[in-house]
Amino acid sequence: MARNRNQRLAAVLFTLGVAAAAGPVRAADPGIPIAELNPHFKGGREGHAYTLAMLELGMRTGAATTAVLRGDPDRARASLKSLREQMTKVGGMVPSWKAYFGTGVIDELDRAVSAKADLATRKKLASKLESSCTSCHARYMFQVQAQYRWGSFADAVVTADSGTLTFHQVMLDLASDLGGVRADVEAAQFAEATQAYKRLMERFGMMEQLCANCHDQPRQYFIDSTVKARLFKIGGLLRRGDTNVADYTPLFNDVNEMSCLPCHQVHMPAAFAQRNALEPKR
Ligand code: HEC
Ligand code: HEC
Ligand code: HEC
Repeated sequence: MARNRNQRLAAVLFTLGVAAAAGPVRAADPGIPIAELNPHFKGGREGHAYTLAMLELGMRTGAATTAVLRGDPDRARASLKSLREQMTKVGGMVPSWKAYFGTGVIDELDRAVSAKADLATRKKLASKLESSCTSCHARYMFQVQAQYRWGSFADAVVTADSGTLTFHQVMLDLASDLGGVRADVEAAQFAEATQAYKRLMERFGMMEQLCANCHDQPRQYFIDSTVKARLFKIGGLLRRGDTNVADYTPLFNDVNEMSCLPCHQVHMPAAFAQRNALEPKR
């Protein structure tokens, strides 16, 4: 009893904590500055100006930390100078993020090298520099990649006889048809189940066309022949007039577990990050 009550109390406190955290956290997180990033992500997926500037920043950071830790003053000074230039350049590209690219820590590293500071001191400063990178990456890197490197889920459409269908609509239809077929089978309404099944297969075919919006080459998973075999098997049971619900159940589960769920795990974070970036901030 006491344990139960404690668990319940803990759950309530947890919920309160989450509720309390949700407000301020959202207010403090302005999302990514789309308008400032846009000009640096023009053109193809390769060769984006911001990406290239980051890659260069990575190389110069590596060169500088290596020289600093090795205790080679000449190389360290030269590489810190070149790192400082790149920091300033990248910091200037996105004004909202300028504060992340302060050069104070580079000055500290410079002084530590000149003063022949011990390895522990130099190590500490190097990791201070590196943490300044990680703190932004952890927060924004994926959002930027979802926005600019994934291809747009909002723009992914497929043309059907009835007109243009969005990616999102195809998904909603897939879900209602899959649930519909199962409910009809359970209610022993086989004519309706067959109708819903037909639409399910249509929508599944449309979804396959949507992959080509982003993938040049066909992909192995999520819509492959093993998933389709389950769907065809459902069709076969319906055609034969099988009324035993238990024959169908594992097939529905397989479709969910082999196609819908794992594909969502891969694609939804990016798709929803894109959707959130579009929504006005509160
Ligand atoms: C490309 C891999 C992929 C496959 C396979 C896939 N989905 Fe989706 N689905 C997505 C993505 C990405 C989204 C989010 C984007 C959107 O809805 O605008 C989504 C969204 C959804 C949504 C809307 C969720 C919401 O909260 O609005 C439903 C419902 C859905 N999918 C059902 C299904 C079902 C059922 C299947 C399997 C028969 C399936 N999906 C297969 C990628 C996939
Ligand atoms: C204010 C945010 C911010 C800061 C600070 C920042 N970066 Fe980045 N960095 C990004 C973003 C956003 C990307 C993703 C760019 C893309 O994929 O197009 C990125 C990508 C990179 C990449 C290439 C992507 C990869 O997967 O490896 C490297 C390398 C990199 N950053 C190095 C650094 C280094 C080194 C520092 C610190 C000296 C640093 N960055 C500081 C935002 C930042
Ligand atoms: C809006 C763009 C978009 C759409 C639509 C889309 N994908 Fe993807 N998908 C990506 C990106 C980006 C990645 C991660 C990087 C990569 O693999 O190219 C990815 C990763 C994957 C992966 C895992 C890694 C790999 O490359 O094999 C699979 C499998 C996959 N997608 C299958 C599909 C299938 C099947 C569909 C259609 C049902 C689909 N995708 C629709 C953008 C998309």
